[in-house]
Amino acid sequence: MNFFKLLMTSLTFVVLFNANSFAADAAKGKKVYTKCKACHNAEEPKNKIGPHLVGIVGRKSASVDSYTKYSDALKGANIVWDEANLNTWLENPKGMYKGTKMLYPGLKKEQDRLDVIEYLKTK
Ligand code: HEC
Repeated sequence: MNFFKLLMTSLTFVVLFNANSFAADAAKGKKVYTKCKACHNAEEPKNKIGPHLVGIVGRKSASVDSYTKYSDALKGANIVWDEANLNTWLENPKGMYKGTKMLYPGLKKEQDRLDVIEYLKTK
C-alpha cells in the first residue's frame, strides 16, 4: 500500500468513526432511559412522580393536564420541547429552570442525552 492510499484509508476511518460516535441511537437511549423510569412513563399516558413522557418531543412544556404537580418554574417555561432544549434540560434541569421539581442531577454525557432523546422520539 503506498502512502497516499494509506492516508486516504485513515481519513475514511476517521470520518466514519466520528460520524458513528455522534449519531444518536434509540436502542442505546432505551438503556439510558432506565434512569428516568422511576419517575416517568413513556409507554402510556400515566404519571408517576413526574409527568408521562408520551410524545414529549414536540410537546408543550408543563402541558399534561392530568399531572397536577408541575412546579411554577416549569409552568412558566412556555416552550415546546425539541431536541435542542431537551439536551439543555437533561444536562442540568435546575440550571435551566431554577425551582424545578425534577430532582435529577442530569445526564453529563452528551452522547447519553442524544441517545435518550432519540429514544423518546419513538414514544
Ligand atoms: C427523581 C424523579 C425524576 C427522574 C429520575 C427524572 N425526572 Fe423528569 N421530571 C420529574 C418531575 C417531578 C418533573 C416535573 C418538574 C417540574 O414540574 O418542575 C419532570 C419533568 C420532566 C420533563 C418535562 C415534562 C413536561 O411535561 O414539560 C421532561 C422532558 C423530563 N422530566 C424528562 C426526563 C428524562 C428524559 C429523565 C431521565 C434522563 C428524567 N426526566 C428523570 C422527575 C424526574
